[in-house]
Amino acid sequence: MSIRPQKPAPATPAPGKLPITELAEMKARRQPIVMVTAYDAPGGRLADEAGADLVLVGDSAAMTMLGHESTVPATMDEMLMLTRAVTRGASRPLVIADMPFGSFQVSDEDAVRNAIHFVKEAGADAVKLEGAGVMLSRVRAIVGAGIPVMGHIGLTPQSATMLGGYKAQGRSAEKAIALLHDARALEAAGCFSLVLEAVPAPVAARITRELSIPTIGIGAGSDCDGQVLVWHDILGLYEGRAARFVKRYAEIGETIRSALTAYAADVREHRFPEEQHTYSMPDDELALFEAAVASDHREHADDRR
Ligand code: KIV
Repeated sequence: MSIRPQKPAPATPAPGKLPITELAEMKARRQPIVMVTAYDAPGGRLADEAGADLVLVGDSAAMTMLGHESTVPATMDEMLMLTRAVTRGASRPLVIADMPFGSFQVSDEDAVRNAIHFVKEAGADAVKLEGAGVMLSRVRAIVGAGIPVMGHIGLTPQSATMLGGYKAQGRSAEKAIALLHDARALEAAGCFSLVLEAVPAPVAARITRELSIPTIGIGAGSDCDGQVLVWHDILGLYEGRAARFVKRYAEIGETIRSALTAYAADVREHRFPEEQHTYSMPDDELALFEAAVASDHREHADDRR
């Protein structure tokens, strides 16, 4: 097992950590940025080993990990616990904590306080928050406190009800130009990067060209500076209806189900555990143990008389 260096203070990137400034350089070089969600320590480690640049502890955890119908119920405590686990596993990628619904909507002060919790108590390198408009002030406040912020526009699941459901955004010229204005405003507010979710590819491509910060697309076409997908979607672990933009790279859910079924059958048929899974003891110790049990039985029998 490798011993990781102690995590330094947030202002000092850990040794081997991808510098956040590298992302703008990757955009300039047209080198695609790879982002994936993760929700636990093995997930963070595997994403790191696979070479991901960014690991998002998404509030999608409310659905993928906690069984809710939407991302809205995710709490700060839950997100802090998951982020702590991911930062224990991921060394090189920047770990971005998703600010859950209710943690930044009320005031700039709340937003800064909660962003600080993520950095100080969970080791996050940055936070992400959904929206523009009123949220620009939140971005300025958090960035002003020295914490990098990733923006998120287009389909913003926390406000899916307001958007009329989980559907693509920016499909009219008017809505597309509004998205571009939001994107520019988030860049001006200090975001280091911007997620574009469920946006027509040509609109995302235009926004990407107009900004100097990198865009990370999910259902936004191939011209974004990077891509993000949800862990459970990539790996075939999520049972709900998959969005159009999901590509499954494995069917881990099926693999887990058949492994658990085989285990259950082995237990029921006495095929597990086998000799190799059990511990032995020296014969003389076993004989002494059995003699002690026999003597216990005799004493108890005498007591009952
Ligand atoms: O919560 C999440 O996983 C996200 C990604 C889909 C961008 O916000």
